[in-house]
Amino acid sequence: MKNFSIFFLIFISGLFLLPTCQGADGKTKDSLTKYKEQYRPLVHFSPQANWMNDPNGLVYFEGEYHLFYQYYPEAMVWGPMHWGHAVSTDLVHWQHLPIALYPDSIGYIFSGSAVVDVNNTSGLGKPGKPAMIAIFCYHSPILEKEGKNTVETQGMAYSLDKGRTWTKYAHNPIVPNPGIRDFRDPKVSWNTQTAKWIMTLAAGNCVRFYSSPNLKSWTLESEFGKDKGAHGGVWECPDLIKMPVKNVKGESKWVLLVSINPGGPNGGSATQYFTGNFDGHQFVCDNAQIRWIDNGKDNYAGVTFSGIPEKDGRCIFLGWMSNWQYATSVPTSPWRSAMAFPRQLNLVKGKDEYYVTSNPVNEIERLHERKITIKPFVTKEKTQLTKDIPFTLSPVEIIAEFSLPRTGAAKEFGFELYNTKGENILIGYSDVLKKFIINRQNAGKNDFSKDFKGIHFSGEIRTKSVIFMHLIIDAASVELFGQSGEVAMTEIFFPNERFNNLNVYTKTGTIQCKGITIYKLNNIWK
Ligand code: FRU
Repeated sequence: MKNFSIFFLIFISGLFLLPTCQGADGKTKDSLTKYKEQYRPLVHFSPQANWMNDPNGLVYFEGEYHLFYQYYPEAMVWGPMHWGHAVSTDLVHWQHLPIALYPDSIGYIFSGSAVVDVNNTSGLGKPGKPAMIAIFCYHSPILEKEGKNTVETQGMAYSLDKGRTWTKYAHNPIVPNPGIRDFRDPKVSWNTQTAKWIMTLAAGNCVRFYSSPNLKSWTLESEFGKDKGAHGGVWECPDLIKMPVKNVKGESKWVLLVSINPGGPNGGSATQYFTGNFDGHQFVCDNAQIRWIDNGKDNYAGVTFSGIPEKDGRCIFLGWMSNWQYATSVPTSPWRSAMAFPRQLNLVKGKDEYYVTSNPVNEIERLHERKITIKPFVTKEKTQLTKDIPFTLSPVEIIAEFSLPRTGAAKEFGFELYNTKGENILIGYSDVLKKFIINRQNAGKNDFSKDFKGIHFSGEIRTKSVIFMHLIIDAASVELFGQSGEVAMTEIFFPNERFNNLNVYTKTGTIQCKGITIYKLNNIWK
């Protein structure tokens, strides 16, 4: 995101001139929260009103998942950033809470993370009451306007009441700017090897690692990535995670997530990842391959929850369901943007590499309202499924398995969602390219950006004998998990009428559909 300073002026004038659309305290206003709007996500988190981007401060504490997020409460476009706040006890139903962090004299509150300081290393907790600590990027619109390089520093705030109220640390900033223009999005985690906190920070075209015994004073350890990975744009929102290797007992490795904007595989924003090792000081990656957490156009700035209890042990990832190419102009109102569905990441050892799989968290089962199964069939033409589905097609979850005959196999096949206005979206697999495809060329409104319309591809898949597709379809989005999570693709769409019809489509050839299960999902806001 560039040109942050122009928003400063809008912000200042907004404070005096504009009536607040959503109460700046974040409280529900009934007139705005019917959640009946045409494109309102029904199984994804979205703010009641106004602008949202990255998820921030993802942390689990005493039975609650906290979702803070980049929020501008005065308009439906990006502006001076606050941290909005919501909590959930099950990762799918969310309760909106008042804004957690407001801009102050140092600057706007950009992206960052939150941890629970269980051992009170910071001294900010009270006996029996560990502090929840938010570490975020301060972005100074004043220094930006002056053309300085030292615009971004890191700050800290703490809460002793489960994130409900926050106090900014008295000695902010805790990490000064060393002269790097883009210096932001601190993700903090506890490193057991060194018994220190590690801050993973985006610093221009690389990531920096800092360590601290107490969350307050930080020492630079190392840098990673100037000559590794994708560099189509600035690096943002990194995350460093230790993960067990799912299929090798006793082995674990480190995964580094790095969002970049632009430079994604299908244009604009996307999140790449590296596998490797981290010794508490330095990250060394396994190979120079460029790999993406999600190959769709609409999953950005995703990071993982901290504080997940050991007995759960999952690595839970949440991304922002949009793309900076058009995020500020998508045709939704009175809000803009949603979060993708929370995912469980796993690390798998393949033939000659380790790779990350993504699947929706199991809690999706809590939303299952009705289930239908479609018996196996063989087809070489469009097969209408609508007549077999006694409920509306969003939100739904679809799980399907296909195989291709030895001869006469279809070149491409998958699902077509369509409406009576002749609009459709294809979510399929190309057996020619060995890639999954989402085609939103004709999916409704797209004139708000030249970068929206298009056909988008995953990378080439590893296992090709059977094709699995797992879809989550909401009012204005689809998430595709292919090959048991080896591929993930998230895309948004804006049809002029709901997509309420479903076909299995094939192009030039035959497929065997081994079974389709469709779940009607409950609206999370009811
Ligand atoms: C990523 C990003 C972050 C920054 C925030 C500002 O989408 O540009 O790097 O902290 O958004 O809202």
